[in-house]
Parts: sequence; structure tokens; C-alpha cells
Amino acid sequence: MFSAKPLSLRLVCYHHPLLTSKPNPTTTRKLINGGFPSRLLCNGASLTTASPLSLKGTNVVITGGSSGIGRAIAIEFARQGSYCTLIGRNEDRLKSALHEICDHSMSNVPHRYVVGDVRDRSFWDALSSGNIKSTRFIESPVETFLADDIPERLYPNVLINNAGVTHSSLLLREHPSIIESVIETNLMGTIWGCKYMAKLMLPKPTTRRVPNSRCIINISSLLATHGGKGCSVYSASKAGVLGFTRALSAELGPLGVRINAIVPGYTNTAMLDGLSITTETIEKSIPASRVGTPEDIAHAAMFLAQNGYANNCIVNLDGGLSAVM
Ligand SMILES: NC(=O)c1ccc[n+]([C@@H]2O[C@H](COP(=O)([O-])OP(=O)(O)OC[C@H]3O[C@@H](n4cnc5c(N)ncnc54)[C@H](OP(=O)(O)O)[C@@H]3O)[C@@H](O)[C@H]2O)c1
Repeated sequence: MFSAKPLSLRLVCYHHPLLTSKPNPTTTRKLINGGFPSRLLCNGASLTTASPLSLKGTNVVITGGSSGIGRAIAIEFARQGSYCTLIGRNEDRLKSALHEICDHSMSNVPHRYVVGDVRDRSFWDALSSGNIKSTRFIESPVETFLADDIPERLYPNVLINNAGVTHSSLLLREHPSIIESVIETNLMGTIWGCKYMAKLMLPKPTTRRVPNSRCIINISSLLATHGGKGCSVYSASKAGVLGFTRALSAELGPLGVRINAIVPGYTNTAMLDGLSITTETIEKSIPASRVGTPEDIAHAAMFLAQNGYANNCIVNLDGGLSAVM
């Protein structure tokens, strides 16, 4: 069902629905107690409600979108009408995830995937410049789109730096190449993603977009703030993601790109399968009595993408585990 084409081809022509006129959610806030024509004051504060930003027609780039949390996030965005671009190294897994995402999305939405390694700076360079030669670019089977404007197609409204690896081992026993790989994937992959894609997210004079809709979501981990035996390098990489997110929000916020992070606790994915401890044992220590699901994390990503005021927002989602660790 998929037609693979070299990325050097010009592939996609699409109409960005954000170019159609839409009400500005930030300027059309509804007053609570709708009978009042002016602000309703309560103890000196004005009470207003903010509508969630519409994601319909937004471009969402999700690293690690072929599996676990990334795939669940992609499905949720697809349900909301976003156009998803998945990034991962294994093409078969990307294909399979793309099928699933198409099943959950509105019709005629051109989701796609790009095979690539987030550790590779030249990959990001090529992706952001629309000059990808060695990477394959596959269109969703939903509809064939004609090639016209790759750079426009790649302008993301939302970037989700989710790709990650873990390796449980004592530092003194860990092979240096694994240490490098964990840091390069989890931390450097996030940094490169932001560096190369954020510039494509800046507003252009010719492009009208939903205000505050541009946002980056970085996936950190509970282990960023709570240590544990055998996870020092992983913890360092994820703590780096948090520090990076906080500092970068000061740079990107004034440019109109929000940046936030999710801090998941134990979540039921292939990554959890790799741990030596059983899920039952983990669940006993979690106040919510269960590990998280990828959908729990996807729900948080949706909140961050749709809340135009969320900037430098760190969402802790661990079933309460951090309270008792
Ligand atoms: N599961 C948990 O308990 C948990 C808890 C806290 C935080 N997290 C974080 O959540 C994120 C998602 O993890 P998950 O649990 O969903 O794990 P997962 O199911 O193993 O998914 C990891 C994804 O990252 C991709 N990936 C790995 N290395 C990559 C690379 N160098 N370049 C491009 N893509 C790469 C994988 O695809 P390929 O292998 O095909 O490239 C896969 O799509 C990770 O950042 C993880 O650290 C997970």
C-alpha cells in the first residue's frame, strides 16, 4: 500500500487549513456567566475561560513515533486532525504505526514517516532544509499528493522530541559506546531536534497561523529528578532535557514558540519490558496502583499543545510515584 520514493523528489502539495480564517481563541475568550457584557470580577480577579487551541490541520513531527508513547501521541494528534510525521530508525515499525494512525484519523490526511536517526545532526539538517537524499519518505496510503513544496510541508506547528533509549547498568560496568548512545539519543537528539526544527516554527510574515499553536514538547522522565541504581546515564540525559527545556523557553517564548516537557513515570511500553523489575512489583509502589499507559502521556501532550499559555510547563505524570520515592 505504501509507495516509497527517494526524498530528493519533490513530493507534497497540500492546503494548510490554518490559512482559512478562524476565530482567535485568545481574543474570543468567553466570559463565565455569559450574561455579563464586561469582565466578571471575583475578588479582584477576572474570570475567563480559554478554549483549547484547535489542532486541525497542524503539522506535528514526532520522533520515536513508531512505538509506545510516541505512537500513542501520534494517534491522539491524528484524531484531532493533525498531520503527523513520524521519525524513527526502523522502517517496518514506522509503516505499521502509520497504518494504525491512519485508522484513527480523519480521511484524506497525509500522514507520513521519515526514516532517520535523531543522533545524526546531518539528518536534522537535511530534514529541515528539505534536502533529504539518503532518507526515504513515504506518503500515507490515504491519498496520493503531488510533489510541489517539501519545505512548506515540513513547517511543524508542534514538535515532539520523544525518541529515547535506556540501558540499565552500573556506570562502572557500562560500555562507553552505550553511554554515548544514551546521551546522544535522549539529550542530543532533543537538542538537535529543537535547533533544526524551531527555526521552521517561527512565524513568517506570509503565513497566518493560530496564535500560540506552535509548541515543542520534550519527553523527559521521572528518573531525571529521582535517581536509582543502574540508571545514572539515563537520568543525566533526562535531567539534561529538563534543564534544556526550561532555559530554551526563555529564548523561544518571545519568538512565539512555546516549549514544555512531560515527566512520565513508569509507562507500559517496550521500554518497561527491558527492566529487570516486574510490572507487578512496580505497581505496588505507585500510589495510583498501576503503571501509566502511553495514552495517559498522550493526553498530557494534547493538553500542552492545546493550552496556549503553557510555556516552560513541566507535567509530572507518574501516578503519584514521585511523592513516595
Ligand atoms: N516507558 C517508560 O516507562 C518511560 C518512562 C519515562 C520516560 N520515557 C521516555 O518516553 C520516550 C518514549 O519511550 P517509550 O517508552 O515509548 O519507548 P519505546 O516503545 O522503546 O519507543 C522508543 C521510540 O524511540 C525511537 N528511537 C530510539 N532511538 C532512536 C534514534 N536514535 N533515532 C530515532 N528514533 C529512535 C524508537 O524507534 P527505532 O528504535 O525504530 O528508532 C521508538 O519509536 C523515551 O524518551 C523514554 O525515555 C519512557
